[in-house]
Amino acid sequence: MGWLVTTSDAWYLKQTNVTVVGSAARSYVIADTNATQYRQILSDQFQRLTPEYELQWAALAPVRGQTNFSQVDVLVNFAMQHSMDVYGHALVWYMSTPGWLNNLSKDKLNTELQTHIASVVGRYKSVINAWTVVNEAIADDASGFRKCLFYDVLGNDYINTAFRAAHAADPNATLFYNDGNFEGYNGKTIAIYDMLRISIAAGVPIHGIGFQSHYLGWDYPGRANITKTMDLFASLGLRIRLTEIDVQTRNIPGPRAYKLQQEAAIFADIVTTCVEHHACDGITFWGFTDAYTWIPSLTGFTTDEPLLYDTTYVPKPGYYSVMCALNSRFCACDSAAVSTHVSSASKLRVSVVCLYVAIVFFAALC
Ligand code: G3I
Repeated sequence: MGWLVTTSDAWYLKQTNVTVVGSAARSYVIADTNATQYRQILSDQFQRLTPEYELQWAALAPVRGQTNFSQVDVLVNFAMQHSMDVYGHALVWYMSTPGWLNNLSKDKLNTELQTHIASVVGRYKSVINAWTVVNEAIADDASGFRKCLFYDVLGNDYINTAFRAAHAADPNATLFYNDGNFEGYNGKTIAIYDMLRISIAAGVPIHGIGFQSHYLGWDYPGRANITKTMDLFASLGLRIRLTEIDVQTRNIPGPRAYKLQQEAAIFADIVTTCVEHHACDGITFWGFTDAYTWIPSLTGFTTDEPLLYDTTYVPKPGYYSVMCALNSRFCACDSAAVSTHVSSASKLRVSVVCLYVAIVFFAALC
């Protein structure tokens, strides 16, 4: 199955308006005078941006008492210039905790936690209307709360404290819990559900949950399982966002063309799952070009192509499959997937184009 643009019209992901489409972005690239294409695609294609690391506590305040918002301001100013929504990620995350928080007493750490959140949310109150307040607080093996500095010193109360502090700083903000490796309905799903159910029942202002959606390729759980997980959290009245979508194609067996087609199919399935769920109000890719992805720095693998554009800003099949999922104006070679809105002439054109794609694709395999 392949996807091809069937019209010469320029089309932009954000124009589909069936859901909000976002991307993580990096301040040092936006500030790079040579990164014209990066800035152009980011502002043309997406209506939401997430600072990829600049809002992390360790990035903001590596030195106690010296919070530096300059990198965040680069991203926020860019977003404002291009009428983009900014998603604040993440106020509290065990992996980005400044070293000077270690060895503080329980009271001191509690105070620092609340002061940090009040300072950051308060500063961006007029421009950031939704936040990841707590990221990845549940252990991946579903054994309970993740052991980390906050949990060790404050117990799991740090989670409710963080949400209450964010709400006090901006009562109008939508506050999310964000995590990964639970999207396909597993033990971790239930552990997160139980945590949120208890906090919400206690009146803690938690309004949404972020499905990170980092996939290795073979581990993609499919639309039915993700929808089941969405239904579970929607039953708590939570809004849902897919917050960090990427696919680590190195794990997909076969030639590059096949890897990218599989990636495109996963992207299309993820997008359709969100578009078709009443509680899902946005999809964000964890970057949009393979030139700037977290994967090599944190995994050591440099052969991955996890995003919508390649390293030279050429759209990959996944870009087109996302467009097909967002708007049937672009073909999907699976005729069943071609929307009834497409005229019969277009369907014929689509079929011819798709037949060509299929021939080329399988010829490449031989
Ligand atoms: O701060 C420097 C900057 O000054 C420099 O110019 C630039 C280029 O070398 O590097 C910047 O630093 C690194 C940044 O990535 C950009 O590469 C930071 O040191 C590094 O900590 C940061 O890593 C980020 C990581 O979270 C830790 O914050 C990754 O970009 C980001 O993709 C990753 O994202 C996490 C989510 O927050 C939570 N879910 C998992 C996801 C992937 O690990």
